[in-house]
This record gives sequence, C-alpha cells and structure tokens, in this order.
Amino acid sequence: MKHLTSLLDLSADDLSAVLSTAADLKARFLRGERPQLCPGRVLVQLFEKPSLRTRNSFEAAMIHLGGSGIFLSTQEAGLNGRESLADIARVISSFADLITMRTFSQQLIEDFAEVSSCPIVNGLSDYRHPCQALTDLLTIQELRGSFPDQHLVFVGDGNNVSMSLALAAAMTGMKMTLAAPVGFEFTEEFLQLLQQQFPQHQISVCHDPHTAVKDASFVYTDVWASMGQEDDAERRKQAFADFQVNEALMASAPADVLFMHDLPAKRGLEVTDGVMDGAASVVFQQAENRMHLARGLFAWLLQP
Ligand code: CP
Ligand code: NVA
Repeated sequence: MKHLTSLLDLSADDLSAVLSTAADLKARFLRGERPQLCPGRVLVQLFEKPSLRTRNSFEAAMIHLGGSGIFLSTQEAGLNGRESLADIARVISSFADLITMRTFSQQLIEDFAEVSSCPIVNGLSDYRHPCQALTDLLTIQELRGSFPDQHLVFVGDGNNVSMSLALAAAMTGMKMTLAAPVGFEFTEEFLQLLQQQFPQHQISVCHDPHTAVKDASFVYTDVWASMGQEDDAERRKQAFADFQVNEALMASAPADVLFMHDLPAKRGLEVTDGVMDGAASVVFQQAENRMHLARGLFAWLLQP
C-alpha cells in the first residue's frame, strides 16, 4: 500500500506512472469518457484548513471515477483531542478506501499513515503540498513537453508550495531557483534533505528577483502569508515588498516566460492583476489540472 505524505514517498517510476495516468485520463475526459476506475470506492477528507481547489477537485475526481466522498472538519473528526489520533486513523480507515488530509502539522499526516489501513494523501500541511507540485509537473509537461531543459523560478516564500516544487524539480531534473527575502529562504534542514536525496541537483537560492528570472522558463509565486500565518501578514507584506511579480519583473524574464501560481492569489500583493490575467499566465490551467491529477493519482493508488 502506497501513501503520498510527501513527494519522497514516490519513486521515479511512481512519479511517471502518476503523471502518465493523469495525462491519459485528462485526454479521455476531454473526449467525454469517464472510465469508472474506482467504482463504489469511498474517499474521506479530513481538513483542518479551508480549501477551494484541493477539497473539491479531490471529491469531484472520486465521483468521476465512480466513487463518492465524505468530508470531515477538525471538529467533526475529533482531531481536536476528542480521542487519540491513532484511534481516529484506525476507525476512519476501516470505513474508507482513501483518505486525504489538510493539516497544520506534517507529522500528523505521517503519524496517521503509520496506522491507517488505506492510502493517505497529503492535501497540504505547513511543510508540504505534494498534490499541487504533481499538478504543476503535469501542467509543465503539457506546456513544454519535458522537464530537464526548463528553469522554474519561484519568487516568494520558502514555504510548503516552494518546498514541494523543489522536490518535484529535483525528481525530474528541472532547474529551480528560489528568490526570497533574507529570512524567508528554505531552511538549512530542508536544503540538507535535498542535498542528501538528490546530490546531483542544483538548487539556487538568491535575494534578487530580477536576476533570478533572467533565464526563467516559468515564474511562480504564492501568497506571502500562508494559512496559519495571518497574524504575521503585515510584517511579511513589508519584507516581500520588492518580490511582487509584476509587469516590470516579467519584463526582466525571457519573452516566452510563463507565469504560475497555485492559488488562491492575493491580487495586488504577490502578483498584479496584469500578470494574473496576462497572456503569459497559466494559473487557471494549473487549477483545472488539480482535478485531472487527482483522478490519475487516485486511480493509480487504488488500482487492483
Ligand atoms: N492550491 C490550493 O491548494 O488551493 P486550495 O487552498 O483552495 O485548496
Ligand atoms: N502557501 C499557501 C498555499 C495555499 C494553497 C498556504 O499554505 O496557505
């Protein structure tokens, strides 16, 4: 049984199997085919944080595959201390075929997976967002065909999204640069993990977005204050002021550069309306692909 608590749960072969299953199912979906690959299967979603894309793309994916979904908030699941985590995991996994989780703590998802009798999929924690990164690989593959000649430049916080993108880049041989303000780069611990797991991979971290995007294939950004960091939003707004993805920054990048964002976006902060809605933006293709990736991932995890 496989889990997806982090991209590191996938081998290189697993990663290409998930991407090719998703690409194939997307092509069939666009032709009007909805193969019932998970008939009667039950998805349970345990979410501690809000979600538009993740929750609904997961539920829609399971329904399209012939299954159904149950949603439980922290309170409903009893994750707030009503009973032990291990007891919740044991009980809920005996009802479900697949569990998705969105939590603050990454450890909680990993602990749940230890006890669960069905696959656990991370739908975002404070440290990882593997389904977003897998979806972004699917989108990059659609747009550019392959990974090794692409340069992904993330302008913003060394957060859950950029860490998962760094793992995705390392696993596919794509070059990646993080342009972040001092104090918001990847942690030493994460850089060591990357170095240990992918000694060949070159990841650059810098503090000048204009230099970083000079040979970018993709400029990617995310919110400056993630869910749970609302109280720090004002300090972050000051710290990230020079890291907005705007028309001037995009003009420093090659003419064929594309713009990516996992969404939700805070328009006027990390990105301007002009860039979000401009010709280089692929943000809604990314969002749509969340559902196609989820179908590929679920079908792959639940294959007989
Ligand atoms: N990108 C993403 O995970 O969006 P939601 O927070 O709306 O799920
Ligand atoms: N970094 C953001 C991603 C939202 C999808 C957050 O954690 O809020």
